[in-house]
Amino acid sequence: PFEGNYSSWLEQKQTRLAHEEKTESARQRTLTRELEWVRMNASSRLTKNKARLARYDALLAEERNVKLDNVEIHIPAGPRLGDVVVEADNVSKAYGDRLLFENLTFKLPPAGIVGVIGGNGAGKTTLLRMITGEEQPDSGELTVGETVELSYVDQSRDSLDGSKNVWEEISGGVDQLKVGDRTMNSRAYVSSFNFKGSDQQKTVGKLSGGERNRLQMAKLLQTAGNLLLLDEPSNDLDVDTLRALEDALLSFPGCAMIVSHDRWFLDRVATHVLAFEGDSKVNWFEGNFEAYEGWRHEQLGDEADRPHRMTYKRLVSRS
Ligand SMILES: Nc1ncnc2c1ncn2[C@@H]1O[C@H](COP(=O)(O)OP(=O)(O)O)[C@@H](O)[C@H]1O
Ligand SMILES: [Mg+2]
Repeated sequence: PFEGNYSSWLEQKQTRLAHEEKTESARQRTLTRELEWVRMNASSRLTKNKARLARYDALLAEERNVKLDNVEIHIPAGPRLGDVVVEADNVSKAYGDRLLFENLTFKLPPAGIVGVIGGNGAGKTTLLRMITGEEQPDSGELTVGETVELSYVDQSRDSLDGSKNVWEEISGGVDQLKVGDRTMNSRAYVSSFNFKGSDQQKTVGKLSGGERNRLQMAKLLQTAGNLLLLDEPSNDLDVDTLRALEDALLSFPGCAMIVSHDRWFLDRVATHVLAFEGDSKVNWFEGNFEAYEGWRHEQLGDEADRPHRMTYKRLVSRS
């Protein structure tokens, strides 16, 4: 009867509005934190980013108490990381006679978030593939700790089923979804990646590049790894999703290595910068991008501002 339909329509409308309100206030909270950060000076910003390195245990404990309604995106915690996350000791890698990098040495501590920067063809993706084990160093040693559980979105993003709709692809068709060690409503989870209402019914094969990327992110983040590897997520993520993801990273009790050109991410979220500078040289720097730029200027003077094309060292006689 009309009355019954009308009341169920009203109920649905109420649920939808309540959801929109929650999303709106989560967005407000994100904005407030962004504003606070913008108003800080450079050194307080740096201190704030670095502070998370000393707070790994606190981040883990706090993750339990996050109210999923209060955030736009939530990255579930993976298992606790031990002291060894990723350690590179004098690593070098060449393809043919092109030396991508040499003497690469760094130690990523628990809770570290690395902004990986550098020109096209510098070797950034190759380094990530070394961490996943798809590539091997030519010399030196790359150690990935025993406690590390990887979550990796690669640049090709081809592992989606084009015939499913968005909700099916993410949820596997179930109403309650296991996200890390929590259970949540699968529609709510999917909509927290900005697939609202009818967007969840869209066919995966017809999504735009940005939508596919968001879908990948939603699938990836369910797996609850403790080391996220993201290869240029900023290229086709819309700005709201990107900011929500960054906000989620700030409270994520784990590590991330993210290839990015997004200045805001590199400044606000990164605790370390790994910079592929050309000529097979890679710098590891503790601090955000703002601090890295300052350091680079001290080292190089005006040369620091000169844009230059990617160049490789030639490997001499590898006979
Ligand atoms: N499997 C491979 N065999 C030969 N050359 C490769 C291979 N993978 C990448 N390269 C080359 O190595 C260089 C670095 O590639 P990549 O790591 O993808 O750079 P980036 O991600 O920084 O753009 C590029 O010149 C690329 O063409
Ligand atoms: Mg790449």
